Amino acid sequence: MSLGLHEIVENTRGKNLFFSTDIDQNIQDADVIFISVNTPTKDYGSGAGQAADLRFVESCARRIAEAGGGDKVVVEKSTVPVRTAQMVNEVLKGANNGFNYQVVSNPEFLAEGTAMVDLESPDRVLIGGEKTDTGNAAVKKVASIYANWVEDDRIITTNLWSSELSKLTANAFLAQRISSINAISALCEETEADVDEVAKAIGMDTRIGPKFLKSSIGFGGSCFQKDILNLTYLCRHFGLPEVAGYWQQVISMNEYQKERFVQRMLDAMHNTISGKQIAILGFAFKKDTNDARESPAISICKRLLEEKGSLKIYDPQVSKESILSCLDISDESVLARLTFSESAEQACSSAHAIAILTEWDEFKELDYKKILDTMYRPAHIFDGRNLLVLEKLRELGYRAFGIGKA
Ligand SMILES: NC(=O)c1ccc[n+]([C@@H]2O[C@H](COP(=O)([O-])OP(=O)(O)OC[C@H]3O[C@@H](n4cnc5c(N)ncnc54)[C@H](O)[C@@H]3O)[C@@H](O)[C@H]2O)c1
Repeated sequence: MSLGLHEIVENTRGKNLFFSTDIDQNIQDADVIFISVNTPTKDYGSGAGQAADLRFVESCARRIAEAGGGDKVVVEKSTVPVRTAQMVNEVLKGANNGFNYQVVSNPEFLAEGTAMVDLESPDRVLIGGEKTDTGNAAVKKVASIYANWVEDDRIITTNLWSSELSKLTANAFLAQRISSINAISALCEETEADVDEVAKAIGMDTRIGPKFLKSSIGFGGSCFQKDILNLTYLCRHFGLPEVAGYWQQVISMNEYQKERFVQRMLDAMHNTISGKQIAILGFAFKKDTNDARESPAISICKRLLEEKGSLKIYDPQVSKESILSCLDISDESVLARLTFSESAEQACSSAHAIAILTEWDEFKELDYKKILDTMYRPAHIFDGRNLLVLEKLRELGYRAFGIGKA
């Protein structure tokens, strides 16, 4: 079994892992520098709401150029738009300090919650570089780091631009699968087909495969939306509006799915949740992480608050502060309808409805019979992750709803 990040840091700190704030000295001493800073969606000026904000990447490149210290390989680890290496290169070359810099693209494919396992046994390691002798040597140098634990045939090398574009494309394809099955879930609800059964049936086709076919309230996290927005921005920039429109639809479907979930809640509860208590189980964008960035829970909770519902939120890992910052509500009268619970049971007590928004394992194990006794009747449960067996909940006395199920 692989160790978690905590144990790895504990085992290696002071041996071959060092933390420092002496940035310039460490830049000067390094042969290879990984730029792993955030590349959020730009929220100002040209390209706001779509393009990647590259100011953090650029400031790293400037700092590297200013610090000098010798020839270096500079690795783009952050997810960046295709052609970013050109900008990094220009900044480094602009220093004119006599040192040679090679920019290499090495996108990160790990997923939050399984980061260490993904790093230890990656599906592939992608390294892109300039197709010159010095470029090839730089790619080889970075590849030799991974070769310590990754088989050779899993380390693939490409030109710079293929590598940069592959990362955006991988995320776009993953998000597209979620939006595709979610689109089918809407049709399932109208036709008495069951989306989990459909997903299983199509997933057994080896050309399709079973992963990323779980229907839900939609994707979230800091990457999928930002990377697709970035992809669509690039397409428009390069005069490809049809391609941009195609990928934009993946995001639109994701938005539709969240709104559809809220609408289903409202429909089931006589079109009003004003004055009703809703237990929100889970706020993280997926299980096993405390990350709530772009979590579908954000827009769903905002909509429920807009409909004048009262929310009692419980998430095993996301802090109250983080939830409040995601919701970004300043109106005191709205905040008064928001409370936080220490346990799922506490959140559900005296609630009219339960909404499961993250697929935490512990929500599968709850004693829903006991919980029902503490709730108002009729007690509703809206399983936004298809975690529970609706039939069993109905037998207990819940009015139970899933995604893509009649
Ligand atoms: N989170 C993921 O699962 C994941 C997976 C694959 C790729 N990525 C990509 O990796 C990059 C980082 O993602 P993240 O989720 O770790 O972001 P993050 O926001 O959690 O962390 C980035 C860190 O960089 C720091 N930083 C910013 N500018 C800096 C500078 N000039 N010098 C030093 N530090 C600086 C920030 O303070 C922050 O702590 C992004 O491009 C993202 O798209 C993330």
